[in-house]
Amino acid sequence: MNTLITGERLKLRRAEMTDLKFIMELQYKPENLKFIVPFSENFHTEIINSDNSKNMDVIIEEIATGAAVGYFMLCELDDIGVEWRHVIIDKKGIGYGRETLKLLMKWSFQVKKFHRGWLDCKTYNERALHLYESCGLKREGLIRECILVNGVYEDLIVLGILDREFRE
Ligand SMILES: CC(C)(COP(=O)(O)OP(=O)(O)OC[C@H]1O[C@@H](n2cnc3c(N)ncnc32)[C@H](O)[C@@H]1OP(=O)(O)O)[C@@H](O)C(=O)NCCC(=O)NCCS
Repeated sequence: MNTLITGERLKLRRAEMTDLKFIMELQYKPENLKFIVPFSENFHTEIINSDNSKNMDVIIEEIATGAAVGYFMLCELDDIGVEWRHVIIDKKGIGYGRETLKLLMKWSFQVKKFHRGWLDCKTYNERALHLYESCGLKREGLIRECILVNGVYEDLIVLGILDREFRE
């Protein structure tokens, strides 16, 4: 079964090889690229063709049209937690990011019963920080100068949420 979870307007489903072009183009759109560190086509190919037990590429699909409107990656799936990476919405500003986060948390905590979910975010990504914090994620720390972007070291903020906080 390809579908992870279905919401009001969106469905989250496992990516397939036919989604690879969409994922690569989405990562490299300038409005997205400045906020993420893209992965190579080979890496995505490996993940899509894997058994999904450790990492999974997920497509955010618009139910009304069946079109892919975003993607994210589930990483380092283990008994305790899950890292959410690269939350990217193509159709921005119409609440799809918020619905995706809600579905992602529902799947992680209610379906998979993880104890914690977390992600990192650039310090100047105000839209994403607003979205994450308004969905209940808490700032857990700052990793200083951990990525090099165009010759400049940048910081990442770690945000996370626990299962009990999600239930509250
Ligand atoms: C960040 C992203 C995932 C959000 O998805 P989205 O569908 O655009 O978001 P939504 O429409 O659901 O909600 C955006 C929220 O941010 C708010 N917002 C928009 N621009 C903002 C800004 N510059 N500063 C603060 N908040 C902002 C909106 O008002 C809305 O909040 P509200 O619901 O409280 O009114 C999407 O814009 C995106 O893909 N950005 C580029 C890639 C990226 O940054 N990914 C995250 C990597 S950590």
